[in-house]
Amino acid sequence: MNPPPHPFGPEIRAEFALDPALTFLNHGSFGALPRVVRQAQEAWRDKIELNPIEWIGRRNLETLAAVKKPLARFVGCQANDLGFVTNATEGVNAVLRSLRLQAGDELLTCDHVYNAVRQAMKFRAQETGASVVEVPIALPVRDQDHAIDSILNAITPRTRLIVIDHITSPTALRFDVQKIIDAVKGTRVQVLVDGAHAPGALKLSLDTLGANFYAANLHKWTMAPRGCAFLWVAPQFQNDIHPCVISHEFANGFAGEFDWQGTRDLSAWNSIPAALAWFEELDSQRVFRHNHDLAVWAHQLLCSHCSFEPISPLDGSMLSCMASVRLPHSLAARFEKPEAFQRQLLEVDHIEVPIFEWNKRWLLRVSAAIHNEPAHYERLVVALKKYLA
Ligand SMILES: Cc1ncc(COP(=O)(O)O)c(C=O)c1O
Repeated sequence: MNPPPHPFGPEIRAEFALDPALTFLNHGSFGALPRVVRQAQEAWRDKIELNPIEWIGRRNLETLAAVKKPLARFVGCQANDLGFVTNATEGVNAVLRSLRLQAGDELLTCDHVYNAVRQAMKFRAQETGASVVEVPIALPVRDQDHAIDSILNAITPRTRLIVIDHITSPTALRFDVQKIIDAVKGTRVQVLVDGAHAPGALKLSLDTLGANFYAANLHKWTMAPRGCAFLWVAPQFQNDIHPCVISHEFANGFAGEFDWQGTRDLSAWNSIPAALAWFEELDSQRVFRHNHDLAVWAHQLLCSHCSFEPISPLDGSMLSCMASVRLPHSLAARFEKPEAFQRQLLEVDHIEVPIFEWNKRWLLRVSAAIHNEPAHYERLVVALKKYLA
């Protein structure tokens, strides 16, 4: 086992309002906001209240255009190819609901797909007569080829769209989405990447990735306020894609349609530059490296100290800044539901960590963020050993 990375330390931890009595190992679900971003959002709220007409009615397009510039640099794309949404689910829905699907079309994904996205796919399939094909990728996942080839091998002449996670939620795996995109280039198969966890977890270059559609959250690993997310659409498909909320700007161009979807609290989107500036101030490369190395170390720690079977290679080649381990049946048998064990860990051990039921097995997922340090995972190991005994 390599040593864990050097932590960012108590000064950075103090930037977060997280309860000091809590060992917080679930940054992945809803993020956690640093003070500087909370202050930026408060300042925007105050500014908007000085004259709501000015900031929501007259200058909204100007301020959102200013937000898109640093955001486009951060995710490697052109500013006009980004549309704002409030979460990744909304971005995925916008694509699924815009595509003109026909009876017989197949929407292809795998069983690691996020459940809300699965439901949106089912809904669209029901409406149109298309079908959802969900290929299993059994655990343990040996390597990228094992995962990606399972999906590519399921393509048929009816496949219309592949929906693939960049980083999966319950299993916390990073998928080589580039391989899928390259494999279907020049065919009628389109690719929608669910990048809910990717910005701030991975260095992105959306222009070179070459997907058709990329939906992502900024309120997880980029540490922007909740409600910050985007949908990137390749220029040649932008006329086909509309937000879930149709408003004044319908058919007036992709960026405009997404920028105005009715009256909203614009303080979150306008605070994105503050989050990006803080990320750069911390040194984005260091953040990526720290979080990944900490996740890899925590994964190895859990597998070696609790004898959990790894579900992906221990070298971390399929991890980003989270890792999931499969809990033994004996542990699951002690609690009625995963939520009951999760609550026990919270109330008795003061550890916030998610436990998911996935394909009839329980998975425990740890996140590795800049406010985390090795002692947090060591505390988890001590607690888990108690329940394993
Ligand atoms: C892979 C994946 N997709 C989509 C989502 C949905 O994100 P949101 O609830 O912000 O829409 C999540 C949330 O955790 C996720 O993990």
